[in-house]
Amino acid sequence: MPLVEIENLSVSFSSPDGQVQAVRDVSLTLEHGQSLGIVGESGSGKSVSLMALLRLLPTQSATVRATKLRLDGVDMLTCPKNELAGVRGKVASLIFQDPMASFDPLFKIADQLTETVLAHFDVSKSEAEQRVLSMLNRVEMPDPNRVMSSYPHQLSGGMLQRAMIAMALICEPKILIADEPTTALDVTVQAQILQLIGDLQQETGMGLIMITHDLGVVAETVNDIVVMYGGKVMEQTTVFDLFEAPRHPYAQALLASIPGQVAGKRKLREIPGQAPNPLAPPAGCPFHFRCEKADAKCVEQMPVLQRFGPNHATACLKVMS
Ligand SMILES: Nc1ncnc2c1ncn2[C@@H]1O[C@H](COP(=O)(O)OP(=O)(O)OP(=O)(O)O)[C@@H](O)[C@H]1O
Ligand SMILES: [Mg+2]
Repeated sequence: MPLVEIENLSVSFSSPDGQVQAVRDVSLTLEHGQSLGIVGESGSGKSVSLMALLRLLPTQSATVRATKLRLDGVDMLTCPKNELAGVRGKVASLIFQDPMASFDPLFKIADQLTETVLAHFDVSKSEAEQRVLSMLNRVEMPDPNRVMSSYPHQLSGGMLQRAMIAMALICEPKILIADEPTTALDVTVQAQILQLIGDLQQETGMGLIMITHDLGVVAETVNDIVVMYGGKVMEQTTVFDLFEAPRHPYAQALLASIPGQVAGKRKLREIPGQAPNPLAPPAGCPFHFRCEKADAKCVEQMPVLQRFGPNHATACLKVMS
């Protein structure tokens, strides 16, 4: 039984201007112990897809439809509301871009981590504190004893990010979902944190979904990759195959835009052209506005995801023909 099963997921939000079609017909699967990256530019539906899986979207404005939405075998579509938090707590941990949001500024790091352990496991306070210290060591926290007695604002960005990873892992989740976990950090610290997440994933055998807009970021951390654009999956393959032979013109453009490092600064190559309007997505391929290969058919017809070999699928009429 896969850890994550998403089949034909669509999410829309009601807004004063109409329905925002954030995610359109997305399917993806993650087996236990596997790692998956979801990449795509801002607004492509990465976060909303995972928030929908965890049923964390606002119920007043979001409409979620799927033929399957399962987390560790639990049907998240029919799971009663009062059981959702329990399922999430037992199975999944989330880490976000802003670690401050995970911590209460008024309490010491040690207290917050220890409380988390006590809430999840039947252990004594001193055993919980031991677990916290050993987890801080595991996330390679510099000077863990000092960190234990610090308040969140007394830590650097990188240290807080490590504390947040410790907080996420201390519950021993079956899956870690990391949404842009390092964008707030400088490049060197980013690389260290990503390496750490990758190592811990291997070590613990948990599943990992890493969301980012930067393909370079996930290349060394995950095995498989989903490329999203305009709320849809454009390409689905292994990191190796994507880097060797990207098929979709958008995936090719993304690869060409991987930032080079010039004197410590990141240089992103922009993809020229206009992004699709989520209020009125085109009938055809959402990338056709910016695609050098697009023709009249691409404007009218939405390509379906087509398999090329066991590990590679692409949604592009030009690649099929
Ligand atoms: N609560 C909401 N209400 C209305 N629209 C929303 C809401 N959340 C997201 N959206 C819209 O859904 C679309 C997909 O958003 P999403 O947050 O999934 O993008 P993303 O791929 O995670 O982008 P980023 O890289 O900027 O985080 C966007 O058009 C966004 O404006
Ligand atoms: Mg996002």
